[in-house]
Amino acid sequence: MKKRNSKAQEKRFPRLLLKWNEEKNKRQMPWKGERDPYKIWLSEIILQQTRVGQGLAYYHRFIETFPTIQQLAKASDEKIYKCWEGLGYYTRCRNLIKTARYIVKEHKGKFPSTYPEILELAGVGPYTAAAIASFAFNQPHAVVDGNVFRVLARVFGISQPTDSSAGKKFFTALADKLLDKDKPGIYNQALMDFGAVICKPVNPLCNACPFNKTCSAFLNNKINELPVKEKKLIIKKRWFYFLVMEFDKKIAIQKREEKDIWQQLFTFPLIESKIETTKKQILSAAEKRKWLIKNKYETLGISPVLQQQLTHQLIKSRFIHVRVRQKPTIKNNWRWVPQKTLEHYAFPKLMDDYRRLLRS
Ligand code: ADE
Repeated sequence: MKKRNSKAQEKRFPRLLLKWNEEKNKRQMPWKGERDPYKIWLSEIILQQTRVGQGLAYYHRFIETFPTIQQLAKASDEKIYKCWEGLGYYTRCRNLIKTARYIVKEHKGKFPSTYPEILELAGVGPYTAAAIASFAFNQPHAVVDGNVFRVLARVFGISQPTDSSAGKKFFTALADKLLDKDKPGIYNQALMDFGAVICKPVNPLCNACPFNKTCSAFLNNKINELPVKEKKLIIKKRWFYFLVMEFDKKIAIQKREEKDIWQQLFTFPLIESKIETTKKQILSAAEKRKWLIKNKYETLGISPVLQQQLTHQLIKSRFIHVRVRQKPTIKNNWRWVPQKTLEHYAFPKLMDDYRRLLRS
């Protein structure tokens, strides 16, 4: 692959990026220019695994419900999870709660202002720490995320895998070298915006790109080959059979406490299977667990297959609606809640899909 003089490219890169930002970047976002570290932190946690389009509504909802870190820290877990409902990757929400309470308790509510201290916060990795340090405190730390990998891999023609440790080191060193140390916040935001609106994963707008005279991938026709990833994503398939158990207008729900997906969210009692199975098998498994008592319930229906794609898992599910005439006597952590109050609990998206299906 033909490479241009990379020193000259390194020198030109920040200048052209900032020029593009000033003259062409129309991307508006509520946290742009924001200096309040609480709001910046919140937006960055939301955007860690969520697209800007979806994250915006959640950002506004959080800022309105919890305008300060003190208000977030003193709210109940359940209220915060309810606010997060539908965003997915709930570990982020758990860490959000932990960090808010830690900052209020240990830092008197004042957000830490140095990179190493920010990096120590739960749920904050090098990317988020650099974003907060540069946006809120104008400290010279370069952000390195998927957008940055893509832009640098293409412009500089780097074929080192972005998910290898050597690759990560290489990209991080280059990103640090390129960073405009006088305007780290503006530069970092510009680079992310550039990756999102011009150097997009598919169909990048190379004709509108300020680097198109020197971009290695563009000149060598390698746009679709860069960046390179080493590992293939392995997706595990799981079958979840939910029992929608009705007794006296109340429904059984349970909080997921185990170390697995959807921690702290509520679901209907669940029987998992490695493979697709029948309603009969599930009901018999429920009887064995003493969740259902033989001849003391009736099945009202079974849903079509509903599924939810997570990063490493595909969850396929069916919901079996049963009316029970006798409550199970077995001790478990279920809550029997009036049907009308179900909306007060935070559920995974799949459960909401089912409830929406019922309503239609
Ligand atoms: N993704 C993560 N952080 C972002 C930000 N500050 N702006 C746009 N996209 C982002």
